[in-house]
Amino acid sequence: MRFSPRIGSIPASPTHAVGARAKELKSKGEPVIDLSLGEPDLPTPEHIARAGVQAIQEGKTRYTPAPGILGLRAEFAGWLGREYGLEYRPSGTIVSCGAKHSIFNVLSAVAAEGDEVIVVHPYWVSYPAQVAAVGAQAVVVRTREEAGFKLAPDELRSALTERTRAVILNTPCNPTGAVYSADELRALAEVLRETDATVIFDEIYSKLTFGGRKHANLVAVAPELRDRTVIVNGASKAYRMTGWRIGLAAGPEELISVMARFQSQTTSNPCTISQYACLAALTGDQALVEEMRQRFEERGRRLHQLLSAIPGLTCNVPEGAFYLFPNVSAYLGKSIAGRAVDGSLDLAEVLLEEAKVATVAGVAFGDDEHLRLSYVVDTPLLEEAADRLKELLARAT
Ligand SMILES: Cc1ncc(COP(=O)(O)O)c(C=O)c1O
Repeated sequence: MRFSPRIGSIPASPTHAVGARAKELKSKGEPVIDLSLGEPDLPTPEHIARAGVQAIQEGKTRYTPAPGILGLRAEFAGWLGREYGLEYRPSGTIVSCGAKHSIFNVLSAVAAEGDEVIVVHPYWVSYPAQVAAVGAQAVVVRTREEAGFKLAPDELRSALTERTRAVILNTPCNPTGAVYSADELRALAEVLRETDATVIFDEIYSKLTFGGRKHANLVAVAPELRDRTVIVNGASKAYRMTGWRIGLAAGPEELISVMARFQSQTTSNPCTISQYACLAALTGDQALVEEMRQRFEERGRRLHQLLSAIPGLTCNVPEGAFYLFPNVSAYLGKSIAGRAVDGSLDLAEVLLEEAKVATVAGVAFGDDEHLRLSYVVDTPLLEEAADRLKELLARAT
């Protein structure tokens, strides 16, 4: 068969691939500890699930307007007001099938062949794939580990060209857990102001920041970028609704309406039932979000402590999201359990096959010297995983 060159060459999401292999081993009775996933381990809170059931029972099972039900768009606009003091009308917001879909809609609306989109290393796996899918070119800007993997203004400036159509920023960051302060965002905004690039501000982990850090929103700290920034958030992480597929975005109304037209021709509306559940999430008890945040903060601190005690491993401090991104370069070029470990993929594979710990190779995020570990299991299991990792690495020759 012949496929379109753009889509035929798109790789499957590597994070999903590792997760599938871990599940396969588990189903064979192997004691796998899965630290590869990008979703909270806790179930969707009950009041949210109940709102979904109620929507079905009340017959809210038909198409909705393509950009989502007005109540949810208005509630998200209100949320942006309460969180950041931003004023958006419902027509400046759009509900999509997950934040992943929101981002794809923005990219589809603004970037095409011949355009460049700036992606910050280490990047979430889907950014470069989505940029390629719309025919544009991802320009990956490398950040420095010593700078906490945060993009510096000079690094951003040197990546800009007259072909730059969009810049994707992500805080708290997947895979590093880095969180940009308001000042750091302001410094980047000064550079962005010199361009006319659309900014995709992916804040899907906004509710998960640690050590007293507060999430900063780009439009709130740099209002002058409002007319070309799309804020992307969603229900997946804060409300433990990964499977419900609801993404929420806000931006300039002209761009939002192009996204809505595109969505009307591709997916129609996002799942009706999920929209009502998400409405319950936004209007309901928020204490659950804070409880989960505290739980992740504790786990992150503990795993960081354990990984930092492994000889040769260095690990960034967890600032947000639920990922650690330790540097494993001391073990590359060695051999473990008779296998050559030449890169992060080899190490992730040995770790899974020999120690039954599933992680994601850093190369999937554009950095071959690291592994990504999600702390989405309880602390005793994290401790067990760290023990297994330590033992395995001790066998490196
Ligand atoms: C940085 C980042 N952005 C966006 C998403 C997409 O989330 P969803 O499509 O589930 O809303 C994810 C999910 O892992 C993510 O890590």
